[in-house]
Amino acid sequence: ERGEYRHYMLKEIHEQPQAVADTLEGRIAGGHVLTQMLGVDAEALLARTDSVQIVACGTSYHAGLVAGYWIESFAGVPCKVEIASEYRYRNPVVRAGTLFLGISQSGETADTLAALKMAKGRDYVARMAVCNVPESSIVRESELVLMTRAGPEIGVASTKAFTTQLVALALFALELARAKGLDAARYADGVRQLEQLPGLIAQTLKLDGQIRALAENFAAKQHALFLGRGTHWPVAMEGALKLKEISYIHAEAYAAGELKHGPLALVDKDMPVIAVAPNDHLIDKLKSNLEEVRARGGELYAFVDETVAHGLDADHVLTLPACGEFAAPVVFTLPLQLLAYHVAVLRGTDVDQPRNLAKSVTVE
Ligand code: M6R
Repeated sequence: ERGEYRHYMLKEIHEQPQAVADTLEGRIAGGHVLTQMLGVDAEALLARTDSVQIVACGTSYHAGLVAGYWIESFAGVPCKVEIASEYRYRNPVVRAGTLFLGISQSGETADTLAALKMAKGRDYVARMAVCNVPESSIVRESELVLMTRAGPEIGVASTKAFTTQLVALALFALELARAKGLDAARYADGVRQLEQLPGLIAQTLKLDGQIRALAENFAAKQHALFLGRGTHWPVAMEGALKLKEISYIHAEAYAAGELKHGPLALVDKDMPVIAVAPNDHLIDKLKSNLEEVRARGGELYAFVDETVAHGLDADHVLTLPACGEFAAPVVFTLPLQLLAYHVAVLRGTDVDQPRNLAKSVTVE
């Protein structure tokens, strides 16, 4: 089943152009997201939605965090994002007009399912699931469903499930934005970015050889710091989680603006710092954060897009294709997946079945 690939994780990383194309299939036509993708009642439910509560665990939570930025910025609708194991054990205040959105690859994660069930008795507009398994408990329990269509994911470390979640959530954010009257040009640009994604992903995966070379340096490290801003802060979190999960290197992600508030004290020549640096409205701020890292002697790995490659002082620079706000979190996730993969292979860990972890956490 793994075919030519040494591990399922590597196979699943390389399936992403197709998986994302499948997520988009039949959901965009004539430059528009098709409202029917969410089911027949969706139009009326979205009209009533004026805030969103996202609940998920692990990698799915990171997808939710990215979606939170999109939903507030594009749809102009307030969005909260919370870990399911926290949400389910507190007493959340539900404002009228709030849509509950659970995100889960497996659809069987105990905490996410419990949160969804708990939400039933509350005053939500509806409960929606973004999920990869059609017959799962979370899908059965939800009124609105958007399937990610990633296909089976065997590797414990989530890869194509994450990027297809991002794409499904981008479709949802655009659809909600349309229902809330987003300006037509911005909407059209968002749709166009999604349509171009499968090609951009395929192009980015060709950087595999360069990323493997970076991994050689990395494999002997004990710690790593991942930095990003905006939607790329949760992308940095996802990169850190991948590295921890399969290579057992201690990794942490910070919003780059937080560096001076503590983590900068950790930076010295033994601390690799990975910066997720697409050319968005925060790039100049990020560049000055990175100068602080360099000034402390930290070994800087900058993942930039071709439009910012110049004027960035780093030990290692990986140049990715330029892309817009919806495409960038997907594209910038890919080198982080590959970096974690190659580091784990070099360290000789069990990539597909990391110690102490299960693919689906069905008990708390
Ligand atoms: O099936 P789910 O998306 O609900 O699973 C949630 C997490 O357990 C999962 O994303 C986990 O964090 C991954 N193994 C990370 O790679």
